[in-house]
Amino acid sequence: MTKIKKIGVLTSGGDAPGMNAAVRAVVRTSVYKNIECFGIYKGYQGMIEGLIKKLNARSVNNIINKGGTVLKTARCVEFYKKEGREKAYNKIKEFEIDALVIIGGDGSFTGAIHFNKEYNIPVIGIPGTIDNDISGTSFTIGYDTALNTVVESIDKIRDTAISHNRLFIVEVMGRDAGHIALNAGIGGGAEEILIPEEDMGLERLLDSLKKSQKSGKSSSIIMVAEGDKTGKNVFEIASYVENNMPEYEVRVSVLGHIQRGGSPSCFDRVLASRMGVHAIDTLLNGTYNVMVGIKDDMMVLSPLEEAIKGQTEINKDLIRVSEILSI
Ligand code: F6P
Repeated sequence: MTKIKKIGVLTSGGDAPGMNAAVRAVVRTSVYKNIECFGIYKGYQGMIEGLIKKLNARSVNNIINKGGTVLKTARCVEFYKKEGREKAYNKIKEFEIDALVIIGGDGSFTGAIHFNKEYNIPVIGIPGTIDNDISGTSFTIGYDTALNTVVESIDKIRDTAISHNRLFIVEVMGRDAGHIALNAGIGGGAEEILIPEEDMGLERLLDSLKKSQKSGKSSSIIMVAEGDKTGKNVFEIASYVENNMPEYEVRVSVLGHIQRGGSPSCFDRVLASRMGVHAIDTLLNGTYNVMVGIKDDMMVLSPLEEAIKGQTEINKDLIRVSEILSI
């Protein structure tokens, strides 16, 4: 195995608050350990196009507090194909890059696995996605910030919901995972939470709203994850409720991409910093093709294949807590 002297770092897939803190940690740890570090811009697309620049400790000044990613990001369809990956390999060879740190979610890690198999380039994954849907870590970078953004939004929606005695249906991100909906739903005091992992059924939703109404509630908030199991979008759910409970005035609020923006929380900054340092330590210790994660406040490693496998588990206790507290 050749000694690693030059590392490339990129962010890929949907951006997440805290990605900059991770980039900063990767760059500074590389410099600290006398390794050259190259920023690859626009994710895998930038690898194909050769958007690569050497970074030093000062290149990452004043970014720990910034949302988004200074390296930019993309969802790169060309990298799914062998020809795209070949172009990317040729580019990183021009820069003599020996190893890669990939900050992203499951799609980004799938690309990394293919790339490693074809070209034997050591890769390390750092989980960065607001969805928290990666196995092998209790938390992904950006999740905590997104939760706080959602809770802040729910608090604001609640003010207007109470003032008008309205029912609000709020859609949050999570195509395949209900972690944001469930946790921010409990944190924001939502009456009902619809997630992709559990089929709550629309009938049950009506029953529960009727009970709430009977017990004196005049306004309610229903949290819905993008990919919830009812198979209906928030506007269809709103019509369903309005048709069955005409006494309710229903409004829909889709929080959308505000959930991905904003300054990272302290939790995400510390998590990203730890993961960045650990990623370089791991590479230099000769362990490759793994993802850095956190469990019980300890840095842990798991094979990249494991990280992208299946769905992450929903904590059933949260469902129970929400049911009890939303009476
Ligand atoms: O994967 C993160 C995520 O924010 C999902 O929750 C959401 O479904 C998706 O990205 C949106 O992606 P895009 O910004 O490409 O529309």
